[in-house]
Amino acid sequence: MTPPPVPLVSPPVNQTGTGAVTFTLNGRPVTVRADHPHLLAALREELDVTSPKDGCSPSGQCGCCTVMLDDKAQVACQIPLTKAEGRSVTTLEGLEEPERERYAKAFAACGGLQCGFCIPGIVMRAKVQVDKKGAALTRQDMARHLGAHLCRCTGYVKILDAIEMVATGREAVPLAPGGVGSRGARYQAEELALGDRGYIDDLRPPGLLHAALHLTKQARAGIKRIQTKRAQMAPGVVAVLTAADVPDALKVGIIHKDWPVLIPEGGCTSYAGDVLAVVVAETRQAARAASELVEVTYEPLKPLTDPLAAMASDEVAVWGTDGNVLSRSAYARGNVDAALPASAHVVHEVFETQRVEHAFLEPESTMAVPRPDGGLHVYSGGQGVWDDRDQVASVLGVDKDRVSVELVSNGGAFGGKEDMSNQAQTALAAWLLGRPVKCTLSREESFLMHPKRHPIRMEYWAGCDEEGRLTAVRARMIGDSGAYASVGMKVLERAAGHATGPYRVPSVDVESIAVRTNNPICGAFRGFGANQAQFAMEGVMDRLAEKVGITGWEMRKRNVVHPGDVWGPGQVMDEGCAGAERCLDVLQPHYDEARLAGRAVGIGLGLKNSGLGNGFKEVTKAVVRFRDDGRVEVRHGWTEMGQGIHTVALQVAVEELGIEPERVMVIVDTSRELGQGQTTGSRGTLMGAGAVRAACQAATQDGCRTEVDYLGEHRVDWTHHIGEVENPVIHSAFGYAAQLVVADPASGQVERVVAAHDVGRAVNPTLCEGQVEGSVHMGLGYALTEEFPADQRGFPTKMTLRSLGILRPKDVPPIEVVLVEVPQPRSPYGIKGVGEIGLVPTAGAVAAALHAVDGQWRATLPMRPSRAGTADGDD
Ligand code: FES
Ligand code: FES
Repeated sequence: MTPPPVPLVSPPVNQTGTGAVTFTLNGRPVTVRADHPHLLAALREELDVTSPKDGCSPSGQCGCCTVMLDDKAQVACQIPLTKAEGRSVTTLEGLEEPERERYAKAFAACGGLQCGFCIPGIVMRAKVQVDKKGAALTRQDMARHLGAHLCRCTGYVKILDAIEMVATGREAVPLAPGGVGSRGARYQAEELALGDRGYIDDLRPPGLLHAALHLTKQARAGIKRIQTKRAQMAPGVVAVLTAADVPDALKVGIIHKDWPVLIPEGGCTSYAGDVLAVVVAETRQAARAASELVEVTYEPLKPLTDPLAAMASDEVAVWGTDGNVLSRSAYARGNVDAALPASAHVVHEVFETQRVEHAFLEPESTMAVPRPDGGLHVYSGGQGVWDDRDQVASVLGVDKDRVSVELVSNGGAFGGKEDMSNQAQTALAAWLLGRPVKCTLSREESFLMHPKRHPIRMEYWAGCDEEGRLTAVRARMIGDSGAYASVGMKVLERAAGHATGPYRVPSVDVESIAVRTNNPICGAFRGFGANQAQFAMEGVMDRLAEKVGITGWEMRKRNVVHPGDVWGPGQVMDEGCAGAERCLDVLQPHYDEARLAGRAVGIGLGLKNSGLGNGFKEVTKAVVRFRDDGRVEVRHGWTEMGQGIHTVALQVAVEELGIEPERVMVIVDTSRELGQGQTTGSRGTLMGAGAVRAACQAATQDGCRTEVDYLGEHRVDWTHHIGEVENPVIHSAFGYAAQLVVADPASGQVERVVAAHDVGRAVNPTLCEGQVEGSVHMGLGYALTEEFPADQRGFPTKMTLRSLGILRPKDVPPIEVVLVEVPQPRSPYGIKGVGEIGLVPTAGAVAAALHAVDGQWRATLPMRPSRAGTADGDD
């Protein structure tokens, strides 16, 4: 689905009929063109007021664009300019400095933000409530008012802490973080809270053109003809590009080059996000309007949308590929055929998980600017700028050094920005036209284009002895990977590797298949296959526990992996794995107490690798430079997407160099190859900290001379492929977590979550807790309400943020985080990583708690599919 067409020329909307609208902005009268589709567009596109962010315009469902209209908080993308005429509009730019500071410092001190994209809108809503109610504003009340907002990063806990701090008049003093292990404010937290630190869509170089994409209306069809004439003649249009304009490689991909950046005449579409044309115009509005005028003649083909049928079919679902089985991952140990029948108890269950949308709040945006030397500079919010550079260069048919890609910290990603979305098309336009071009996706285009979390069908057979000790697990998994490969084969490989959870299992037999279909593409998403597999494995553990007659906690205690045990595909676990049992032990008193109190209780235990592993050689570098002006630059190349990698880099520098944090400047340096690849797999902190530490040590050994680049490197090049040796080290590190879900035994409402996470070493406990709170929020949604289904045509059926089932603040139960620190051998400071493990145990724990409510075993996610909710409205 593409957004509704916008009229090419809007009628004048002000009463004077002059085609202009006048209102007061931040105390000053302004006049804007009348043809903007809403107030947000006028603010951002004409007035360059960028603190209100555009997460979903014009649907009004994310809250990022909240402003004050007179004295009410309202989302600006739902305000027609007719309604703004003669009124007073206030944005964060217009608040008095002491008030701005109060909010900025409170959010910084409380850790109330991660990527920051949602926060300016939330601050405006909070301001209205605090102005009205002051200290009488309750947390519950504020949570209800935040119903018009989404935050995908924080779980809202620390956002509410920050608002409470302002409402009660407590002074916030954000502390700069110290060395490793100290609490402290996130790097650039105050600028982020106020919306002052720009995202790509906030950049506005002179002469900028805007690109809009024409997406296919058929998920699987031959493309007979693409007619661009009407679009070319539309007002403001500079060019319309098709595949015929691509100078070199038509297909890109992180691993397999199977994803066309544009589908040519004579080619075929393979999913609903395929791009057929790029329209470039003087304004975003003109580009989007004209993109509707591209005419395409399709020869429809029946989409293959059932992965089982696609596996069995001789028909190839995806254009240019040679079969529908993308990958098969398998391993076996022991003798499952003998062990299962000999087991005292056996369970057999089919688990099914759903497709899920990342719903990062910042839709994908790219800007490309021709360089004076004839090259091209691309601003990307992607998770792997070197992959972006290589792929863009291949599309343009130029040497890699003619393309530079600069990372701009993004507004959330969670794995969904690993593949390129609009980078190649934007670069192509700027390259051919010789002018800066920006392309920002609408929310609907974002839904259609980027890869999702895999739905996986998992059939499990598992046995245990009389005491509940696991004897054997057999698992067969089939994942719907959608059309193009992305990293789908790696996700299913990871699901296979994590199939037995953090347990000792003597006999294992696992097979996992990724299937190509014409459904939305699936790829990386926080947890990367481990969530799905461990929802199944935790379900198995609880079913076996019931048969044995012991609690879920006891079942896990009897089977949890110990140092020296052989795990999963044969890895001998190191001392770091003691964290799994430690997490269980931390939860025991909470578990016992809740059961004694008659609550419905479920527990989940999980592990998730940190780093890529599986034989991949991971090398990352960082640079430390003492400047003549006293500042110390720390340069790295990781993508900051709210997880806090900049803060980690700063804290390591403070720790190693013994300097004040104020002296440290963290710089994302993509001008030189610091060699990290994708920011993925919970590895940024682990690898980045190692590289910065090494750079600091090099500086120290050399006397910290000024204006010298000190290079440090961290290397993990000692993992194995599954099956490479008898006991492969498939991953260098794992994070561990146990989560307790407590529900009301009468209503089944989740009352609270206690999350014990072994992170190895918490570099910054405040940020660590925030990561866990955010992932528990995501995990509860995954368990209960979130889904992103597609129909028989291969098109998603839930095309608004509100329909995805993401939990709103008032529906999030209290989340208590307990950080556990069992150091990881061979890792800097013992770090294990925290980003991905966060929601691995959640769905299993929720399923067990709900079983305690009604005795029903649940094997399908989500367990309570949502009906689309409604916003609480404007204040
Ligand atoms: S951009 Fe206005 S509510 Fe999302
Ligand atoms: S901090 Fe709220 S969406 Fe990232």
